[in-house]
Amino acid sequence: MDIMLDNKKAAMIAEPLALPCGVTIKNRFYKSAMNEALAGRDCAPTEEHVRLYRTWAQGGAGVLVTGNVMVDHTQLGEPGNVAVEDERDLPMLRRWAAAGTENGAHCWMQINHPGRQSPITVNQHPLAPSAGRIEGDYGRFFADPTELTREQIQDIIRRFANTARIAKKAGFTGVEIHAAHGYLINQFLSPLDNHRDDEYGGRLENRARFLFDVFDAVREAVGPKFPIAVKLNSSDVPIAVKVNEQSGAPGGFNEEESIWVMKQLEARGVDVIDVSGGTYSKPVIQTNDGAAEDRRRGVYFTDFARRVKGELRVPIALTGGFRNAADMEHALGEGITQMIGIARPLALVPDLPNRVIRDGWRESVDLPRISTGVKPLDKAFGGILVISWFELQMHRIARGKQPNPRIGGMRALLFALKQHGPAALTPRRRKGRQ
Ligand SMILES: Cc1cc2nc3c(=O)[nH]c(=O)nc-3n(C[C@H](O)[C@H](O)[C@H](O)COP(=O)(O)O)c2cc1C
Repeated sequence: MDIMLDNKKAAMIAEPLALPCGVTIKNRFYKSAMNEALAGRDCAPTEEHVRLYRTWAQGGAGVLVTGNVMVDHTQLGEPGNVAVEDERDLPMLRRWAAAGTENGAHCWMQINHPGRQSPITVNQHPLAPSAGRIEGDYGRFFADPTELTREQIQDIIRRFANTARIAKKAGFTGVEIHAAHGYLINQFLSPLDNHRDDEYGGRLENRARFLFDVFDAVREAVGPKFPIAVKLNSSDVPIAVKVNEQSGAPGGFNEEESIWVMKQLEARGVDVIDVSGGTYSKPVIQTNDGAAEDRRRGVYFTDFARRVKGELRVPIALTGGFRNAADMEHALGEGITQMIGIARPLALVPDLPNRVIRDGWRESVDLPRISTGVKPLDKAFGGILVISWFELQMHRIARGKQPNPRIGGMRALLFALKQHGPAALTPRRRKGRQ
């Protein structure tokens, strides 16, 4: 009896999924976005993107979401981002899309604008819904933003649509709008970041207007039969903490608001909602000890997904913390997600979907503790260390090598310094202080 049940559940990961737009995905593996940090100063895709995505496509996932691609090369989220503003890189984008759609995989471009989360090392003039610096330890990595005018808002909406149009033309088979992790759309949604008094600020309907305008413009650009996903925070704190019986960051975008936004997106025709959480100051990845964090958290945002279950018909891709087939089967079986959103394990085991679906692999991918061996450095650069370490793994795959879990934290730090330049080490002087 139990064995039959297990087989039935295991088969769920391999089951195709029909999306509202009519497209069918071959299985439930949804490779979540990871910035590859492979573009040079020209923000153009490279031969290495092609190789990396070919490896992932051959690895068996149903959907590969690219790392975030920027709509404006002067407003990058991280050094090494690809930016797509016009058709100048169409030939290489075509090769990237072709590689990412081998083996029946879908390859969707994640489209983003960072708003004020654009590091000072790449951008001295960030833009945001409202002026105001990023609080907390990470604040020193960002310049103070200026408030967007309404004309600039309309320009960014057009840019999202234009980038989506070019993605489709290049052969990407879907797009994901990045509305999570504290970037521009998330800044509009959050009352902590958005202090506008025009139609884009104030009550939730107004704060969500920018996302809905972007969504509608992208839908118009790609047509009704093309998948559009939205990555959305369940709340702005990655682990829901109860604050006066209200979930979410005090005053931030919270779970009730997130559910309302999801329902509106469903009515507008979204195809997948990729559920995440966190911002730069409260990042989704919280420590440099991956395995310990996973033991503590399990699959991320599960409680939220249980709340959402039954409220929505649109497919959910719950993202974060999936490390083994048992947890994936359980989440699918419980009906709290329809796709398995998974990022870091695929930088270590790129053919994880094949292993699980074809070979019945039951092992867990243990994420390492990433340390420079120097405590103050680990403390100062914890989040950046983790990101850089996984970028190094992607770079190995992109060069035809195997991932190497033994890469040390000091190499990840040196890579971060190479990417950002020595300015990353220089704390900014706070106003009024020397
Ligand atoms: C190196 C790296 C780069 C990332 N880049 C992006 C990104 O470009 N866009 C995004 O939405 N999330 C990004 N993420 C977050 C992942 O998509 C995912 O939400 C997070 O890693 C949790 O999933 P996991 O536990 O399966 O890794 C990144 C994560 C890592 C490790």
